[in-house]
This record gives sequence, structure tokens and C-alpha cells, in this order.
Amino acid sequence: MPNRSVTPQERLIVPLDVASFREARTLVDKIPQVTFWKVGLELFVSSGPDILSYLKDNDKRIFLDLKFHDIPNTMAGACRAAGRYGVDLITVHATAGADALQAVCEAAQEGAVAASQTLPQLIAVTVLTSISPRSLALDLKIPLELSDYALQMALLSQQAGLAGSVCSPQEAELLRRCCGNDWLLVCPGVRPTWAQKGDQQRTMTPKHAIAAGADYLVIGRPITQAQDPAEAFRRICDELIE
Ligand code: C5P
Repeated sequence: MPNRSVTPQERLIVPLDVASFREARTLVDKIPQVTFWKVGLELFVSSGPDILSYLKDNDKRIFLDLKFHDIPNTMAGACRAAGRYGVDLITVHATAGADALQAVCEAAQEGAVAASQTLPQLIAVTVLTSISPRSLALDLKIPLELSDYALQMALLSQQAGLAGSVCSPQEAELLRRCCGNDWLLVCPGVRPTWAQKGDQQRTMTPKHAIAAGADYLVIGRPITQAQDPAEAFRRICDELIE
């Protein structure tokens, strides 16, 4: 795994899965220990880029998780615009295909350079962690094993020049082995033993996910919906040190 010296605190990305800038700011202020926040579709669609400025003003790292999936020209335009915000990570769907994946890398860099911002890293979703093997086969009609399909999507992303994958921790070991140590692995679907799974299907504990090769863990509800979110965050950091 790249960068073993990263602290547990820096490995945890907490999603701002709320509907307004005000709620997002309250959450950021409530857990000052969090250094890396994820801004996803709900917040960005409902309140726009103000939250990105707020996070940057507070020296936070930003994962802009808008999971772009469209034709290459449209994805490139979206990634060029996203690059201007100076975010650290941007997501696209690997299933958008090779041409789109190649187009987004260049475009995100152009956007960042034009706005004098640091270059973002592009990562691609392999298979959503809410998809079960059964729904992959029966609903999406994909005739591959889920782990094999996730690997194929990671290899496609790697060939196109992206920096890493978003994957279930269940696939982290396979992707780490096949994609190498420099390939970033960002894993949602992580659940401490004391938290509820919710709609996540393929979960693993934080400690096991890191041992399997994850670089970053995206952990939302176990922290954000805890009675004491700062305490839940601290508890997960402690579990990673033990
Ligand atoms: O609350 P929970 O820990 O399930 O939140 C996980 C976060 O990671 C959500 O914001 C979700 O959109 C995101 N995510 C995911 N599966 C992916 C990619 C992103 O759950 N494959």
C-alpha cells in the first residue's frame, strides 16, 4: 500500500451527506478532527459549490464525489469545471468507457492549471458498494463474478490514466494485488462492528479494510448519525491503531 506513514485520521473520509450548506457547515464544525470531507450529489445539487470554499478556507481536503457518467465530451467538461475548484479527489464511473476515462484526466488537469489550483486525482467507481452479486447478475445482466467485474473496471481505469478506484473493501485485496502499490484504493462500505450496515451490501470493518489494501475509507452514517460524532470518529481512529 502506498504511504504507510499516513495516520488513521488522514485515512478517514467522512461524507457530508446532508441537504444544505448550513447542515454541512454544522457537521464540519462538530468534528474538527476530520481532515478529509466528501461532498456528494445531494449536497452539491442542493447548495452548489459554497461548501467547497468553506472546506478550503478551513484547510480541509476535499473528495468531490459526483460520480460523473456521460459521453466523453460532457464528462471532460464536467471534470474541467471540477478541476477549477482545487479539490483533491474527483469520481467518475469506470463504466463510462475508455474514451471518456482518457478525456477526463486531461480535462481535470486543464481546469486546475487554468485556476492555479493543485491537480486533482481522478478515481473511478468500479461497482457501487450497494450492488450485490445477485443484482449484478439479475438486474444489470453482467455475466461476470462481481470481483472479476470490479477488477476489469479498475484495469480499464488504470489503462486510461486515472489514479485509482473506488471499490468495496471486499475487492481491495484483489485490486491491490493486480493494480500495484501506487494505485489509490478508496473504499466505502466500511462498518465498525458496533454500527448498522444500512443499505451497504458488501461491508468490512475499518481495520480489515486497511489490512486488505485500502488507502482511504469513506465512513458516513456510523460517524455522522452517531449520538456523539466526534467520539465515533475517535473510536474508529483508535481501532485502526490497535
Ligand atoms: O453512510 P455510509 O458510510 O454508507 O456512506 C458511504 C458514502 O460513500 C456515501 O456518501 C455513498 O454515496 C458513498 N459511496 C458508496 N459506494 C460507492 C461510492 C461511494 O457508498 N461505490
